[in-house]
Amino acid sequence: LKTIYVGTFIHSVSLAELQVLKRSAVAVDESGKILLVEHPVEASMLEMWAKEAGTTIVEAGPGQFFFPGLIDTHIHASQYPNSGIFGKSTLLDWLNTYTFPLEASLAKPSKAKRVYSRCVARTLSHGTTTAAYYATRDVTSTNILATTCHTAGQRAFVGRCCMDCMAPDYYRDTDAATSLADTIKCAEFCAKLDPKGELVQSIITPRFAPSCSRELMRDLGDFMAQSGLLCQTHISENKGEIELVASLFPECKNYATVYDRAGLLSEKTVLAHAVHLTDDEIALVKMRGSKISHCPVSNAALTSGAAKVRRLLDEGIVVGLGTDVSGGYSPSVLEAARQATMTSRFVSLTEGEEAKLSVEEALYLATRGGAEVLGLQKTVGAFEVGMEWDALLVGCTFVPDEEECDEDEDLLQAKQAVGGGMTPVDLFGWENWEEMVAKWLYSGDDRNVLKVWVKGRKVHEKPA
Ligand code: GUN
Ligand code: FE
Repeated sequence: LKTIYVGTFIHSVSLAELQVLKRSAVAVDESGKILLVEHPVEASMLEMWAKEAGTTIVEAGPGQFFFPGLIDTHIHASQYPNSGIFGKSTLLDWLNTYTFPLEASLAKPSKAKRVYSRCVARTLSHGTTTAAYYATRDVTSTNILATTCHTAGQRAFVGRCCMDCMAPDYYRDTDAATSLADTIKCAEFCAKLDPKGELVQSIITPRFAPSCSRELMRDLGDFMAQSGLLCQTHISENKGEIELVASLFPECKNYATVYDRAGLLSEKTVLAHAVHLTDDEIALVKMRGSKISHCPVSNAALTSGAAKVRRLLDEGIVVGLGTDVSGGYSPSVLEAARQATMTSRFVSLTEGEEAKLSVEEALYLATRGGAEVLGLQKTVGAFEVGMEWDALLVGCTFVPDEEECDEDEDLLQAKQAVGGGMTPVDLFGWENWEEMVAKWLYSGDDRNVLKVWVKGRKVHEKPA
């Protein structure tokens, strides 16, 4: 039993290069693995497949292409209801004003269910096939998020937020031992839910240095080494936060060293933001092989600053994108990719022209970069034999030239192209593929996401 996807496939082959496979086919087996990439595909081969029993053929229409699923390397599912609500706050007052009260309220399971099911449905509709989630410090509600992802079919890393310091009394772990024990409970829950970790895994989540004691961070570092699980945290997001870390950990010469001393910096560590890392810290992160989640929307919204992504990439550090909902106001990785290019243009004003990220580079970060951040580079991020079918069918609106074309046929084509309704990307028929992808990056949204698959399973279809 297999599914053959037929049409145009676009994916990254390197940071700088998107490959367009026209008139091609990708065969996917029952388990969701890519068996074959045929480029270009002969009509005779399609006819042969069509006759095979148990084979389903899914064809992309005009103005449509298949694209690898988008990867969100940093998102707080628990903050989803606060998307867009941040006023003029910056990180530390934003946490106290908006974030901790909302997260604490999700200890009520019915509320957690409502929020998490909407968050997962919404991110899927924007094409997020893999997400690294922060939940809350509550065990039950964190497990509700894991179940929600598993049921919806979204690939996910789900972390219970560890915080035994510097948070309000109503929202703090009792002590380091309890925080570790609760983390282990969540890890055990995920291991039961998905024993092979094929879709949902637990991720160790010390919230950030100011909200974790030395003891807790050390315990979590030990647990990371022993369990082999990934770890995620925040680093060097905001100037006030960096000063706070310096005052709380005077024995450490910088922020990265705080994590390193606890054994929390490894190749399995995802560091969100990294806006203000010093040269020493960049060297340390590079040496440890830790990965970075770039969150441009959040960094602008909370006035945190502009991360120097080109510098990180030039150092050979692996970078992916994060929406950082609700520091970031948008659940869309495409929006994060777009804002990564915009931020890079501001950075270029001081750091030089080469700081600018291209369309190709932003989309690489959204797919292959994110996959590598989460240790999934052999599994998802591109259309290659042996990888899994995590993909989007993207459609743009085809605008017929009424004078030159047969109207009925073109209207039919337009309808097919968008899978019901209009999209914010209009194609006039004269764009080349490169231009079409640029238009999608800069003006596309969930209206362009017609279908979404994870591991071969269709997990979202745009309503007609
Ligand atoms: N640092 C500590 N907690 C958070 C959070 O929830 N969001 C962001 N953006 N930064 C943080
Ligand atoms: Fe965050």
